[in-house]
Amino acid sequence: MIVIIGGGICGLGIGWRLAKAGRDVTLIDRGEAAMAATWAAAGMLAPQAEAEHAEEALLPLAMESCRMWQSFSDELRRCSGIDVDYRTEGTLVVALVRDDFEMLEHRFTYLRDLGLNLEWLSGDEARQKEPYLSRGVSGALFSPEDHQVDNRLVGSALKACYIEAGGHLRENTSVDEILTNSGRVTGVRVGDQEIKAEVVVVAAGAWSRNIAGLPPEASPPVRPLKGQMVAIQMPEAAHILQHVLWGPGNSIVPSIYLAPKSDGRLIIGATVEEMGFDTSLTAGGMLEILRSAWEVLPGIYDLPLVESWAGLRPASRDDAPILGPTEMDGLVMATGHHRNGILLAPITADTVSDYILTGNVADIMRPFMLDRFSKSLTAAGHHAMIYQESVPVKA
Ligand code: GLY
Repeated sequence: MIVIIGGGICGLGIGWRLAKAGRDVTLIDRGEAAMAATWAAAGMLAPQAEAEHAEEALLPLAMESCRMWQSFSDELRRCSGIDVDYRTEGTLVVALVRDDFEMLEHRFTYLRDLGLNLEWLSGDEARQKEPYLSRGVSGALFSPEDHQVDNRLVGSALKACYIEAGGHLRENTSVDEILTNSGRVTGVRVGDQEIKAEVVVVAAGAWSRNIAGLPPEASPPVRPLKGQMVAIQMPEAAHILQHVLWGPGNSIVPSIYLAPKSDGRLIIGATVEEMGFDTSLTAGGMLEILRSAWEVLPGIYDLPLVESWAGLRPASRDDAPILGPTEMDGLVMATGHHRNGILLAPITADTVSDYILTGNVADIMRPFMLDRFSKSLTAAGHHAMIYQESVPVKA
């Protein structure tokens, strides 16, 4: 028996692969599957436009997963009948004032030197691609290979595929404890029921660190990072945006993004806030999101605002995912995907399930194992850990 804790996009993806391979899998979710970060996300698949300084190690994993999305979405459609709105127009990152322009030029040079396929556009060239862009857009970076999906459709499709493959799903059920004996996992406890398992996968997103039963070194250093979002409805006959668009942000919205879906919803986000498990919406959050979005795409001003919500990104101590085996036999990680959970879902599903089925640790997954945190525990690292552990957490 394999137990997966957490029915987000990664837990479901791993479970689907394992169930298809004929394994007995039970997935346990504290709420409804695919209704936490998977539902709250924007569905951007943008390893190139979103590549950050000092995150070069993540790039090969992110690029490979991005390449996998075409076949992953085809497979989801074949199995579930749901088209997950995989869109390949590409991504535009725009600058407004001179400071943004210079920062974007610097970013373009940095990304191009990493060998990424990006194009520099003048403001007018950007407006040829997107006529509703602000006249104030002074330059843009175009990333033709950064795509998007509708993450909510992906969640529904994956859930259907997992169940169709024979996976068991227990929703609205909390795992109270991971059970261990002599350095290996033996199962989980749910209330007063013990479920025996030879493998337990922790895929519980922002809640991954709060599961009892693990010694501190086997507990993934993951914390919630709040993101407030809104959706605007574009007119059916005239979607005012075709590409995913990124623009300059402000203090709590480091960069604004707008992701147009084929059903006319324009997803706009997001704040980045250290607020523990708080998911309340704030006037300031809404104001900063809408103002930054309006500055790059003024046409949103008259459109109906149809939804607002907040999600919790599972952020690890170094912002990279935590994948694969741990020093505890049978305990496997698939968590800490930070801002990249949708993007990294196909590679997480394949590499983690392959490890469980064959024992093979793929080279591309190796840098992201949990032991990187204990290996790098220098004095400075220890200080960083104490700081992280002191971030207030309300379950
Ligand atoms: N990847 C989008 C976000 O983290 O807001």
